[in-house]
Amino acid sequence: MAIIGKKIGILGGGQLAQMMTQRARQMGFHVTILSDDKDDPAVGYANSWIKGKIYNEDDILKLARVVDAITLETEFIPARTIAKGLGKTKTRCVPKLDHLAILQDRWPQKELLWDYQIPTADFIKITGKDDLEAAYKVFDGELVLKKRLGGHDGFGTYIIKTKTQFELFKRTHKNLETQFIAEKLVHFKSEKSLIVCRNSKGDIFMYPLLNSLQKNQQCFRVWGPDHHPALNDLTKKITSLLNHIDYVGLITFELFDVGSKLLVNEITPRVHNSGHITQDAFSFDQFEMHLRALADQTFPLEVQSTKTFLMQNIVGTSTRKPAIEVGLQGKLHWYDKKANKPKKKLGHINYFGNSLRSLVTLADYDLKKIKC
Ligand SMILES: Nc1ncnc2c1ncn2[C@@H]1O[C@H](COP(=O)(O)OP(=O)(O)O)[C@@H](O)[C@H]1O
Ligand SMILES: [Mg+2]
Repeated sequence: MAIIGKKIGILGGGQLAQMMTQRARQMGFHVTILSDDKDDPAVGYANSWIKGKIYNEDDILKLARVVDAITLETEFIPARTIAKGLGKTKTRCVPKLDHLAILQDRWPQKELLWDYQIPTADFIKITGKDDLEAAYKVFDGELVLKKRLGGHDGFGTYIIKTKTQFELFKRTHKNLETQFIAEKLVHFKSEKSLIVCRNSKGDIFMYPLLNSLQKNQQCFRVWGPDHHPALNDLTKKITSLLNHIDYVGLITFELFDVGSKLLVNEITPRVHNSGHITQDAFSFDQFEMHLRALADQTFPLEVQSTKTFLMQNIVGTSTRKPAIEVGLQGKLHWYDKKANKPKKKLGHINYFGNSLRSLVTLADYDLKKIKC
């Protein structure tokens, strides 16, 4: 089946690429993956595979030559590298490269939020050792140091609450200070996320607000739908930002609920772990929405969802082979990774029903059946 005749390429072959490829194939796209290893989770689902490095412009060019549009599963490939890779081909990238350039670096990302008066935690750019000391003072010894580039799943995020932690950070990051921004430590009530998609015609689709619980700075569980008194104001500001910069594709806003306000923690210009619940609890999932935007399609007029829903991440705690007892209560999505290791995302389980409380019980029950 080839309804659209669009050929798409994905930079990377991990779980996000895998789930996007599965959906893309169902939608009739022809998918090519650029990745290192034939055993990467996405490769088996794709129409074709190019062996290569996603950070290498020549390899990106090999992909760009055979597809109409490319997208990515990590926002950390330098926009310049992708631009060089696309070279003289007519292949487009979604997200657009000027947006990627801003969002992949926490400093211009924070400035963008500032420019559009979107609430976010106070921040300071670290241009040298003095700034680090100043940040410690200004934020009263409670701060978060975040790597400007490449931080994810809590790697690159250092929460400082004591003098000892601050001294340790300084010792272990000597002469690397300028790679960081400092943020005020936020005493939030909960973390949430808002997943938004915009197509090239300017249509905007938003999923309901999601609640997300992190453990060790990594997403553990997500549930919804959630509500917040500040959501209406935030969505207006986000809509105006996306329209103004003419953003295309799916984009995720991670949020802190601080009571009266929602602060944007970070923006990710791609499909997101917190959105995996949309695969089973919504009639159209985040992967489809992103692919529709990528292919200049409209969004569905109606998107249905279950009354309540919950997503449970399965994260490695060892290097042993994962073992899952049969008879789970939720729908398992397994990424088929070659190896296990602590903090590695191995899969997730989606639950949906009428009562959130019962979904929590089911997820707790299932977790006991998983050894990884
Ligand atoms: N300013 C902050 N105050 C308190 N906790 C924070 C702050 N920034 C980040 N965190 C915690 O660390 C987690 C990871 O930080 P984040 O900026 O989202 O980086 P990553 O790219 O690793 O997801 C957040 O989900 C949150 O739990
Ligand atoms: Mg985050």
